[in-house]
Amino acid sequence: MSGTPEVIGLFPTPFMRIAGALDRPLVAGLVSHFSAHARTLNNSSANLSHTTMLKPSDSPLLVTAATAITPMLSEFGALMFGERLPWALKEMWVNLLDTGGRQAMHNHANSFISGVAYLTPTHPDSRTVFMKSPGGTEFSFKNDHAGVVTGPYNAEKWVSPQPEPGDIVLFPSYIMHAVPPNPGERRITLAFNAIPTQLDSWGYKIGFSG
Ligand SMILES: [Fe+2]
Repeated sequence: MSGTPEVIGLFPTPFMRIAGALDRPLVAGLVSHFSAHARTLNNSSANLSHTTMLKPSDSPLLVTAATAITPMLSEFGALMFGERLPWALKEMWVNLLDTGGRQAMHNHANSFISGVAYLTPTHPDSRTVFMKSPGGTEFSFKNDHAGVVTGPYNAEKWVSPQPEPGDIVLFPSYIMHAVPPNPGERRITLAFNAIPTQLDSWGYKIGFSG
């Protein structure tokens, strides 16, 4: 008599979602601060603008946000590296995605943990989408048609859960992600990159500084 087949997801990728990570007064403060600065932002596409890299000295609100985010980095980093390491927020910036705006697929270089704090309501169509890296192989085979059932082992992209203002998501910086065209109101997010102070491979250490 045979047992029930067991399916084991090999080598899963962590993705952490922290609901209500930033409290309402902080979120409201960040929205009004960066909405006021919107006209000085860099326009990288018609409907997407982003700030230059922010420094904590730009606003005490950023210091408060960084203080809330840093302990989460240690928890998430323990999943990636098996140890609660000291982590530093390396960069923070704000994205303003107006109606019709989108963010093309990208990942974040020179960083280990990346994250997004959602500051305004997000239209369900413009939730952040995560995808497998476009392959570097010469040939690929696909079974792709209306009858295909998509699951965790054959999906190529994953639409992240509907966020609320104040929610934060963390993911490994190498993961490709994008934001589909926003049919809704202006969508404001605070994005960030983080690095551990050091990684140690049996005494061979490599250090990072922001
Ligand atoms: Fe990004």
